[in-house]
Amino acid sequence: MKLGILSRAPRAYSTQRLRTAALDRGHEVRVLNTLRFAIDLSGPDPDLQFRGRPISDYDAVLPRIGNSITYFGTAVVRQFEQMDVYTPNTANGIANSRDKLRATQILSRHNIGMPATTFVRNRADVRPAIQRVGGAPVVIKLLEGTQGIGVILAPEVNVAEAIIETLHSTKQNVLIQSFVKESKGRDIRALVVGDRVVAAMRRVANGDEFRSNVHRGGTVEPVSLSPEFEQAAVRSAQIMGLRVAGVDMLEGIEGPLVMEVNSSPGLEGIETATKLDVAGAIIDYISNQVAFPEIDVRQRLTVSTGYGVAELVVHGGADLVGKTIAESGLDDRDITVLTLHRGAAVIPNPRRRTELQAEDRLLCFGKLEEMRSMIPERRRRRHKVRRLPKEPLVDDRE
Ligand SMILES: Nc1ncnc2c1ncn2[C@@H]1O[C@H](COP(=O)(O)OP(=O)(O)O)[C@@H](O)[C@H]1O
Ligand SMILES: [Mg+2]
Repeated sequence: MKLGILSRAPRAYSTQRLRTAALDRGHEVRVLNTLRFAIDLSGPDPDLQFRGRPISDYDAVLPRIGNSITYFGTAVVRQFEQMDVYTPNTANGIANSRDKLRATQILSRHNIGMPATTFVRNRADVRPAIQRVGGAPVVIKLLEGTQGIGVILAPEVNVAEAIIETLHSTKQNVLIQSFVKESKGRDIRALVVGDRVVAAMRRVANGDEFRSNVHRGGTVEPVSLSPEFEQAAVRSAQIMGLRVAGVDMLEGIEGPLVMEVNSSPGLEGIETATKLDVAGAIIDYISNQVAFPEIDVRQRLTVSTGYGVAELVVHGGADLVGKTIAESGLDDRDITVLTLHRGAAVIPNPRRRTELQAEDRLLCFGKLEEMRSMIPERRRRRHKVRRLPKEPLVDDRE
């Protein structure tokens, strides 16, 4: 394959290792400075220029987008996606993972363990927010920090309030997160490639520092992960839309607590700690997947008017329970079941003989009008307005 590594650091360890791994495997590879692209929307098809000239045909790109150029970098990756060039990490995935709040919001509906987190803006909401995540000590994080910079441990509520107020006054948004004491100074970095963890290490903070980042003086050691940690890492990366990711987890009493998912994980620390060929695993994965460029399924499936994607829920006691998909009548209504979610399990392309159970969730493609009646009622937290009493209201000033 012909691979482009999008990076502004051709001499960095990770870039060098990826480039060499590709060459060793007989691929053609170039390191392309992300900032030298021009996104070209003037012709009939999406196109890109590089250093002022039309780019040649690439089979795949591997984005290594630094934090300081997220906007431009993801625009370039998105353009490659529009041109059907394979990328293991999508522009959306990179942008979503870069913002700690956005990442937490996206992961939060998928049963992934995370430290209790809250986000507020008004001064009056700060103290209750700190209490909600368990009180002091509490961790305060800038939304887009890296390398441990912008992560603060506040020992007391007053101090936390003062820090948050100060940051708010300089227009910085911050997360408030419970401090996971049992993991103090230690965390796990799992390197996910495709559907598996290819290498993992434990990072231990220096002295009484609570942040275990290598840039903060942390040391690393190889670690073999329990299936629970491995699953949490792989699922987090998948949900974020990242096929190459470094997933950071704290070791909570009840299991893994995912803190963040990095879209351009550094390779030096993990390859040194584990002696594993992570770069090689990444290149092998890409050359395997190159025939499957990312498709925005929802976007593509909704271009036929009146058709779309919806999640249908099989209600208990309703007429679908106990029937197979073939007997369900969905076919006649022009509805196709793409995946079936049952508890935490997912059955892709369920067979026609699959029997439906109460609370099964079916991801379907079909006529929106036909699916409307089957869409679950929206969850209501509380009644916002009270019913009017039968008797007319009496104005008691009279
Ligand atoms: N809620 C928390 N409880 C305990 N330690 C934490 C918590 N959040 C972060 N840390 C420590 O701080 C480090 C940096 O936090 P992280 O969210 O990964 O930010 P960064 O993007 O700067 O690496 C983590 O590796 C971990 O050691
Ligand atoms: Mg981190």
